[in-house]
Amino acid sequence: MFGLLRPALFTLDPERAHNVTLAALRTGLVPSFGAPVAGLGVDLLGLHFPNPVGLAAGFDKNAVASRAMLKFGFGFVEAGTVTPKPQAGNPRPRIFRLREDRAVINRLGFNNEGHDAFARNLDRQRARKPGIIGVNIGANKDSADPIQDYVVGVMRFAMVADYLVVNISSPNTPGLRDLQARSVFHDLLTRIRTARNEAVARPPLLVKIAPDLTSSELAAIVEVALDTGVDGLIVSNTTIDRPPSLRSPLASQTGGLSGQPLLGMATDVLKQTYRLSEGRLPLVGVGGIASGADAYTKIKAGASLVQLYSALIYQGPGLVQNILRDLRTMLDQDGVKSIGEAVGADAGA
Ligand SMILES: Cc1cc2nc3c(=O)[nH]c(=O)nc-3n(C[C@H](O)[C@H](O)[C@H](O)COP(=O)(O)O)c2cc1C
Repeated sequence: MFGLLRPALFTLDPERAHNVTLAALRTGLVPSFGAPVAGLGVDLLGLHFPNPVGLAAGFDKNAVASRAMLKFGFGFVEAGTVTPKPQAGNPRPRIFRLREDRAVINRLGFNNEGHDAFARNLDRQRARKPGIIGVNIGANKDSADPIQDYVVGVMRFAMVADYLVVNISSPNTPGLRDLQARSVFHDLLTRIRTARNEAVARPPLLVKIAPDLTSSELAAIVEVALDTGVDGLIVSNTTIDRPPSLRSPLASQTGGLSGQPLLGMATDVLKQTYRLSEGRLPLVGVGGIASGADAYTKIKAGASLVQLYSALIYQGPGLVQNILRDLRTMLDQDGVKSIGEAVGADAGA
């Protein structure tokens, strides 16, 4: 089906194509994609994930399509990034397809409808418990106290999120990534954790980091994360780097690069994170996954779960089942009985 629709979607500006897709998905009239692939379950963060392949944040910023995306076979979906107040984001155009590179550049800037609308939408998406839905929270661009925006996000969504993600790694909100600096990061996490611990429900709290950190910045993040009791790290967001291999004329657009060219780089940071944390922090591997082999590479590099977004733009939702089937085959070939057994096998820890 996607094969038939793709040429039409690709004639549209990427953001229009996305909005058309979301409009179709929010109707909920989506067929389930085949039987679940067995033997891929992961027990982590106090949750049972039916499989380790999740939808990364940014696809469903306002929690209108999480239910439909779960039907495509994702083991979990991360909605958001959501900020306290609605905001328009940067001027359009702000999403670019780098077709020659199987990549995307975006400089959306946290366009979203804000906490209130998100909460109403999420309520509908969660009716009859369709699966695991995480909530990815951020700060408004004009916020006088960005840390407080995260605290408010935690308090607002602790009751309804299966897990929470503190996104301090988008390159498109000025100053946001500075929250990754050691002393600010420590303050941020201490305040957020206090807010989470005071909430009636205490969902696991993860932090999503950038792939552009230096080794010492990464080491500080891991140390503070372990110190403050963060439940896991998501590695990684989009990169501001532009690898010389890029061929598309759109490569010079400002924003975060995702998709195939991010794979090696984000996997290296993942491996480094796994080694630094000595396997003590659950890690979610994201960046450039477009096949079962890519997902397996992330798992062996140290990820207990993986996520993807950009490859969906090029391959459509059938990709999820292909990844799950291939992953199962590869585990069997290696004589590995569960995902957990393979985590970090190639990290050299
Ligand atoms: C159009 C677009 C919008 C995104 N928006 C968000 C976002 O709101 N919050 C976030 O944490 N990550 C966001 N991301 C980053 C993805 O979640 C993911 O970390 C990154 O794209 C790398 O994965 P991929 O190569 O599979 O796309 C966005 C990515 C894209 C392509």
